[in-house]
Amino acid sequence: MGSGAGDWGWAERRPVLFPFLLSLFCPALSEPLRYRIPEEMPEGSVVGNLAKDLGLSVRELPTRKLRVSSEKPYFTVSAERGDLLVSGRLDREQICGKKPVCALEFEAVAEKPLNFYHVNVEIEDINDHPPKFMQNSFELQISESTLPGTRFILEVAEDGDTGLNSLQNYKLSLSPSFSLINKEKPDGSKYPELILEKPLDREQQKHHRLVLTALDGGDPPLSGTTELQIQVTDANDNPPVFKQDVYRVRLSENVPPGTTVLQVSATDLDEGLNSEITYFLYRTGQVFHLNSKSGEITTSRTLDYEEIKEYSLVVEGRDGGGLVAQCTVEINIQDENDNSPEITFHSLVEMILENAVPGTLIAFIKIHDRDSGENGEVNCRLEGQVPFQIISSSKSSYKLVTDGTLDRELTPEYNVTITATDRGKPPLSSSTTITLHVTDVNDNAPVFQQSAYLVHVPENNPPGASIAQVSASDPDLGLNSQISYSIVASDLEARALSSYVSVSAHSGVVFAQRAFDHEQLRAFELTLQASEPGLFRAQRGGVRAARLRPRAAARL
Ligand SMILES: *[C@@H]1O[C@H](CO)[C@@H](O)[C@H](O)[C@H]1NC(C)=O
Repeated sequence: MGSGAGDWGWAERRPVLFPFLLSLFCPALSEPLRYRIPEEMPEGSVVGNLAKDLGLSVRELPTRKLRVSSEKPYFTVSAERGDLLVSGRLDREQICGKKPVCALEFEAVAEKPLNFYHVNVEIEDINDHPPKFMQNSFELQISESTLPGTRFILEVAEDGDTGLNSLQNYKLSLSPSFSLINKEKPDGSKYPELILEKPLDREQQKHHRLVLTALDGGDPPLSGTTELQIQVTDANDNPPVFKQDVYRVRLSENVPPGTTVLQVSATDLDEGLNSEITYFLYRTGQVFHLNSKSGEITTSRTLDYEEIKEYSLVVEGRDGGGLVAQCTVEINIQDENDNSPEITFHSLVEMILENAVPGTLIAFIKIHDRDSGENGEVNCRLEGQVPFQIISSSKSSYKLVTDGTLDRELTPEYNVTITATDRGKPPLSSSTTITLHVTDVNDNAPVFQQSAYLVHVPENNPPGASIAQVSASDPDLGLNSQISYSIVASDLEARALSSYVSVSAHSGVVFAQRAFDHEQLRAFELTLQASEPGLFRAQRGGVRAARLRPRAAARL
C-alpha cells in the first residue's frame, strides 16, 4: 500500500444500501447487491453484513448456509453473523488494470430454499503506487549551439493507480538553464518537455545534472524521481588561443641551420577536431621553418646580423573547424664577432720629401668593422719602429703622419704595417702594409775625398799635362748629386792664374797650362770648389797646390 492509504475515509467502506431495501422483498433479486470497498483491505475485513442485507436473521443462518459461489477466493461469508469478509488480496491494478471502474461480481447462495443473489463489490483505487521511472537516470545530449527555447521530450514515469491517484505532473529541480512544462497526450496522459532557457557553453559547464520528479494526484501525492544527465556536446565555438600574443627571442647570428628558435603553442577549448590546431607561418622569407603540428620554429639557413638584425614573423593557428588565431614572433639576432676590421687609405701620399717636418700628413685611414658593440670597436697601431705615427682623428678614422726626421740617404723606403684589432672575444684583427718612398731633397753638400791635396810636379813639364785630380762626392740623387769643379782662389796673382793652371769642371782633373820653372815658382796654392750646377746651395771646396816642387796641396 502506498503511503497515502492510511487516510482512506471509512465512510467509503459502508455498503451502498439502495439495493438492500429491495432485497427484503425479492428473495431472488435481479438487481445486484452492491458494495464498495477500497483495494488492499486486510484479510478478514468486513465488506458488509450480507445476511442482514439479504433479510436473513442470525437464527436462520445455520439452516440457510449462506455462502459465496464464486470460484475466485476473494470473499467468504462468516457463519456466525453472515458478514461478507475479504479472504484474499484485492489489488485493484492486478484485478482490473487501468479500467476506470473495477468491480467483482459474484453470487451468494442460500439453501432451504435455494436462492442466488447477485453481489457486486466495487474495488476502489487507493494511492498505493508512486509514479516510477524506468531508469534511475537517463542521459540527454544537447549541442552547445542549440538555441534557447528548444524543447526536448523527456522520459515518462508510470503510475499504476488511476484517476487522481495516477501521475499528474512533472517537476524539475531548479536550474538557471532549463525549465519544464507538462504536456498532455490525446489519451490524457502527461509527459514532460524540457525547455532550454539560456545558451549552453560546453567549455564552461560540460554536464548538467537535474532531477526530474513525477507526482501523482493523491493526498498526499506520491512521487518518483530520476536523474536527468545532460551532456553538452561541442560546437566549434572557440578559436585557438595562443599562450602569448607576442613571443620574443634572441638568437645568435652564427647558429647553424636547423637550430630551434622557439615553440609557439595555442590551445582550443573545444573537443576533438575542433581543438586540433595546425600552425602556419607567414612572412618567413625562407629563413625560418615552422612545424605545423608542434609549433616549433627552426632556422632554415644561416643568419647574418649585419644583413638583418630582427625578424618579425606572424604565426597562425587554425583549428579543425577553421577558426584561427595569430601571434607574433620577434626574433632578435645577436651580433657575433664574425667580421674583421677593414682598413682603407684615403689621399695616400706615397712620396714623402725627406725634409718633411714631423707631423706631416701622409694618409687618412678609415677603419670599418661590420660588427656592433665591442665586436665593432677597433684599435689601430703601427708595427715596428718607424718614424710615423697614427693619430685618431674621429671615430673610426685616423691620420698617418710623420713622427721624427727622415733621411732618404739613410732609409729610402719604409714598409709601414697598420694593424686594426677589434675588442670582440676573441678579438679579430687585420693588417695592411703600404710602402712609403722618401724623395730626395738636396740636403747634402759635395764633400771632397781629401780636404787637402799635396801634389809634386817636376819642372819643365809639358804644357797641358794633367798634374792632379780632385774628387768630391754627393749622396743626394740625380741633379742633386752632380758636381762641377772650379778654381775659386789662389795665392798666384789673379791675372796670372789662368796661364798657370786650369781644372776640368766635369772630371776635377787639374791641368798645367805652361811648363813650370822651379827657380821661378817653387809652390803655389789653389782653392777649388765642388759645386752642384744650377742649384743654389753649393758648397765650396778647394785645391791648393802647396809647392810646385816637390809638391802641391789641395784643400777643401
Ligand atoms: C718592402 O716590402 C717589399 C715587398 O715585400 C720588399 O721587396 C722590400 O724590400 C721591403 N722594403 C723594406 C725597406 O723592407
